Amino acid sequence: MFDKAKLLKEVVGQLKINQRGDHGPSHWARVLHHGLVIGERVGADLEVVKLFAFLHDSQRHNEYRDPDHGRRAAQYAQTLNHVLFEVSEAQMALLVEAMEGHSEGAVHSDPTIQTCWDADRLDLGRVGIKPEPEFLSLEGQRWIEFAYEWSVSGVMPKESQVKN
Ligand SMILES: [Fe+2]
Repeated sequence: MFDKAKLLKEVVGQLKINQRGDHGPSHWARVLHHGLVIGERVGADLEVVKLFAFLHDSQRHNEYRDPDHGRRAAQYAQTLNHVLFEVSEAQMALLVEAMEGHSEGAVHSDPTIQTCWDADRLDLGRVGIKPEPEFLSLEGQRWIEFAYEWSVSGVMPKESQVKN
C-alpha cells in the first residue's frame, strides 16, 4: 500500500519527457489497468505491478530510442523505497528485473515480471503496434483486441472485447 497521489507527484515532477506524450501518465494508467486485471488472474504480486506502471518509463530521456531507461528507472525505484512506498527486498528484486528488462522483447517465467511486460506491451497500440501473442502470457493474449482498441481510441472498451 502506498499513497498513489504522492508517488505520482514525485514522478511527474522529475519527468524529462512530455507528460502528454506516448510514455506519460495516460500510458501508465493503461499499463496499471492491464497489469491489475492480468496480475490478479495469474497470481502476480500486485504491489510490484502497480509500482512498475508508475515508474517504468519515469527515467526516459526521450520518446524514442533510450535503451538505458529501464536501468535508470530501477535505480530510481530503489531510492524511493521506504520513502514513498514500502516493499521487501524480494519485491524490489522483481521490480528491478521487470524494469531493467521491459524493453528488450523477452518473455519471463515469473508471473509478476511477465505481467508487467504484458501490461506495457498491450499498450503498444498508441504507437500503431498490435503486440504478437508470443510475447505475452496466455492471459495477456486474451486482452490484445481490448487493449488495442483502448490505445487507439483513448476510451476504455467494454470487457466483451476480451477473448475467452
Ligand atoms: Fe511503457
